[in-house]
Amino acid sequence: MIRVLFVCLGNICRSPLAEGIFLHLVQKKCLGDKISADSAGTSGWHIGGMPDSRSQEVALSHRIMLSSRARKLQESDFNVFDYIIGMDKSNLKDIKRLGSTITTYKAQVKLMRDFETMNTQSQGVKYKKDVVDPYYGGINEFEETYKVLYHCGQNLLAFICKENHL
Ligand code: 4NP
Repeated sequence: MIRVLFVCLGNICRSPLAEGIFLHLVQKKCLGDKISADSAGTSGWHIGGMPDSRSQEVALSHRIMLSSRARKLQESDFNVFDYIIGMDKSNLKDIKRLGSTITTYKAQVKLMRDFETMNTQSQGVKYKKDVVDPYYGGINEFEETYKVLYHCGQNLLAFICKENHL
C-alpha cells in the first residue's frame, strides 16, 4: 500500500478536503487497494474535531464526503507514510522541523502546489506555492481551495502512479 498524508495547520479546512478529494480520485481510477490517504495538522488545536463545516459543504456539493477527525502530525508518520504533502510553506517548515528530529525516514516531503501545472497558477508571486488558508474567508474561498486541491491532486496521483509503476 502506498500511503499519502496531507498536512495543514489545523487539520480541519485544507488537509481533510485534500484527503477527501484525493481519495475520490483514487477510487475513480480503481486504485483503492494500492493507494491510501490520511491528513494531519502541525498544531494540536482541533484534535478530534470534524472538518470545518465549509470544507464539508464544498466537498458535498461535489459529492465527496469528508469523514476524517483532526489529529496532530507525529514522528511515527514519517515512517508510516510514503508521501507527506504540506499545504503551504509554513506547514512545510514545521513538517521538516519535526522530521529533522528523526534519524532516517522514508517519506518524501513536498508541497501541494509543487504539483500545479504552470499555466494554471493564478495567485500572486507571494503565495504562488501556497494553498492559502481559507479559514478566515467565506464559502467562495473554500470553493477556490477545492479547485486548487482537485487540480494538484490529479497531478499528484499521476506522479505517484508513474513513480510506483501503477
Ligand atoms: P487549516 O485551517 O490549517 O486549513 O485546517 C485553519 C484551521 C484553524 C485555524 C487556522 C487555520 N485556527 O486558527 O484555529
